[in-house]
Amino acid sequence: MSLFENGHLLEVGGITRADLDVLFGVARALKVRFKSRTLPPVLKGRILGSLFFEPSTRTRMSFESAFLRLGGTVNHLGAVEQSSIQKGETFKDTIRMVQYYADVLVIRHPEPGQVQEAAAICSLPIINAGDGMGEHPTQALLDLFTIAEHRSLEGLSLALVGDLKHSRTVHSLLKLIPLFPKMHLKLVSPDVLGLPESALAFLKAHQVSFEVESRLERALNDVDAIYVTRLQKERIPNLKEFENYQAYYRLDRAFIEKHAKPDLMILHPLPRVDELAFDLDDLPGSLYFEQAFHGLLIRMALFYTLFQEDGEI
Ligand code: NCD
Repeated sequence: MSLFENGHLLEVGGITRADLDVLFGVARALKVRFKSRTLPPVLKGRILGSLFFEPSTRTRMSFESAFLRLGGTVNHLGAVEQSSIQKGETFKDTIRMVQYYADVLVIRHPEPGQVQEAAAICSLPIINAGDGMGEHPTQALLDLFTIAEHRSLEGLSLALVGDLKHSRTVHSLLKLIPLFPKMHLKLVSPDVLGLPESALAFLKAHQVSFEVESRLERALNDVDAIYVTRLQKERIPNLKEFENYQAYYRLDRAFIEKHAKPDLMILHPLPRVDELAFDLDDLPGSLYFEQAFHGLLIRMALFYTLFQEDGEI
């Protein structure tokens, strides 16, 4: 299993199709057990160290909930302002300390690469819950799982829409696309918010079939799914010149009904700001709240895999 390469889950590189199949299988089994309220308490006696140095609702709560639902307990750093970081303690010292207070750490940090730095000095498994513009591997896993719960990923045509430059969820998702060689991608954003060169180079090097399109209506007409992201304001130093793009892609029901296939799947890691109108919420293809539920399942499946590799569910 290469999900936890060197004991950690820091990025999606290295994850194989076989890993996905196993993980999704565990997540499906846990879904059944969740619904029948018979989740196995396999994490009894274990402690999750939850360290969020950046705002979070879904990711933090679903990680913590996943651990609690499988019988473990959670010890969290709490608000950064309430911790010794406020007194000037460094990130590294914090990690060195908290490794004695838990069995696994989930870390979110505003600086790309910091979670990897933590892994270099910590004897516990670390899961990256988002490092700045870098990666957000568990989100990519739950995104693919959500699509796979509705249709095969083989031959899927997927539009990635919005702030592709700064979205770590997009950066992680992209790196899993080569596992599905028949997928086709449409990259839909204004030029200034397009994918970083390194990500484009990655797609080319892995012979991913993709096209760049700035007009959303043209991109929509033949795709099976769209993955929408908000403008990542907190990652943009010169925000003024980007603010016009806040509402650049505002999808509503009328627009989707006019331009998209009737069974279009709509995904968004959330939080949404202006990109998805509320009138989309009860379309059967609107899967963003289901993604939030799947965040719980995938994170339970990851903990299960980490601590119970040979066990039966
Ligand atoms: C995303 C994130 O934090 O990168 N949210 C999440 O984890 N569900 C996306 C975002 O903040 O736009």
